[in-house]
Amino acid sequence: MIQFLLNRELRTEHALDPNVTVLNYLREHVGKTGTKEGCASGDCGACTVVVGELIGERVRYRTLNSCLTFVSSLHGKQLITVEDLKHEGKLHSVQQAMVDCHGSQCGFCTPGFIMSLFALQKNQAASGASGYDKGATLEALAGNLCRCTGYRPIIDAAEQACCQKQPDQFDAFESDTVAQLKAITPRETAELNSGDKRCLVPLTVADLADLYTANPEARLLAGGTDLALEVTQFHRELPVMIYVGHIEDMKRIEVTDSAIEIGAAAALSDCYAALSHEYPDFGELLHRFASLQIRNQGTLGGNIGNASPIGDAPPLLIALGAQIALRQGNNRRILPLQEYFLDYKVTARQEAEFIEKIIVPRKQANQAFRAYKVSKRLDDDISAVCAAFSLTLVDGVVSEARIAFGGMAAIPKRASACEAALVGSAWYPGVIERACEALSEDFTPLSDFRASKEYRLLTAQNLLRKFFLEQQSPEIETRVTAYA
Ligand code: FES
Ligand code: FES
Repeated sequence: MIQFLLNRELRTEHALDPNVTVLNYLREHVGKTGTKEGCASGDCGACTVVVGELIGERVRYRTLNSCLTFVSSLHGKQLITVEDLKHEGKLHSVQQAMVDCHGSQCGFCTPGFIMSLFALQKNQAASGASGYDKGATLEALAGNLCRCTGYRPIIDAAEQACCQKQPDQFDAFESDTVAQLKAITPRETAELNSGDKRCLVPLTVADLADLYTANPEARLLAGGTDLALEVTQFHRELPVMIYVGHIEDMKRIEVTDSAIEIGAAAALSDCYAALSHEYPDFGELLHRFASLQIRNQGTLGGNIGNASPIGDAPPLLIALGAQIALRQGNNRRILPLQEYFLDYKVTARQEAEFIEKIIVPRKQANQAFRAYKVSKRLDDDISAVCAAFSLTLVDGVVSEARIAFGGMAAIPKRASACEAALVGSAWYPGVIERACEALSEDFTPLSDFRASKEYRLLTAQNLLRKFFLEQQSPEIETRVTAYA
């Protein structure tokens, strides 16, 4: 049985197919059709809803793509849809702003835009920031695609809605909502099932280990941004899932003297502060890591676990020498991340073994780290090539080089020949050209609709040249750069 609030109404689901997405639940089970389906794959934002979660004594609101969210992940939370914004016959200030600024364009996208603006307004108020923040607005809207008209009136609406604090019914009812959420806070493993399909929701790592050992065929559900595609795009059914999003130990992020330790179920949004503080380029890459809705859902563990050759985090983590802590029953082991990826979608993970946390070394003296993502679109796009360079120079000589790429092979992979060409050499243009040559020994990329093999190899070489120039001239822009 799972419980959650649909706005302020308590919903208890005993028997529901765990393959049902929040989008289909709303439209087909509850009859709330304000939330729309555009792509059913996390690309358009038409299905955006807001989920409220208890953080201490406050409710934190975040946008999610309901098309990629299974109902079981709502357990203990509050779901807010576009129908919930109007109150006592009056439009919400965000809705009114869209009317005033002529931001309501087509009926498919507008509910999603409204919900992204609603979360933006709420988060801005919660952060205590005053005034309109255009950067935050663009980030909030990057996952809502409009192809008909344009964004100018919607951005105007964001400015009107966010320029000053505009209390609403969610503020007025917050203490009631907090009490309701406390009352349904999960206290033991929950299960949602229907017939022979079930989703288990453990609260501790030990329970997860036991459940996974007992059900090794289960699929682990974290953010679900990849797993849900199997249901929505490939029309498969997932008979057994284990949802890890309620395991606090797997969502924890700790910074020690030597490492940043990130629970595998920590949302990408939550990883931002620690990673960007230590490695600014990692933060920049996270900004371009799909949409805000996806980053609110997707996890670092999931981005590693699904072993995609174009996952953006693995090349950076490999270049940083990250390790992963794996657990199977009561057995634990630590594995360098680069040894986790064996072949296309094949990993070193054993049966019923799962990633518990990711261990990222702290930055060392003399270490330079840069990351670059090359995609056709700046926001919300998949990399053609993702490159990460970690370099240590001692007296002008390369003492250590860790270089990794995504999009260049069947797995995220280190450029060993390139590294070997650099280590022990002085840092000068001639050695860079030899290292660029060596990249063609490291990689034989494929051509696909994102890029040709020639483009990929030349881009990888040019990114190394760019990295070299930036190390020579630190004033050159050193952040992640998009190449259209
Ligand atoms: Fe397009 Fe969900 S329907 S992101
Ligand atoms: Fe729907 Fe523009 S608002 S395509």
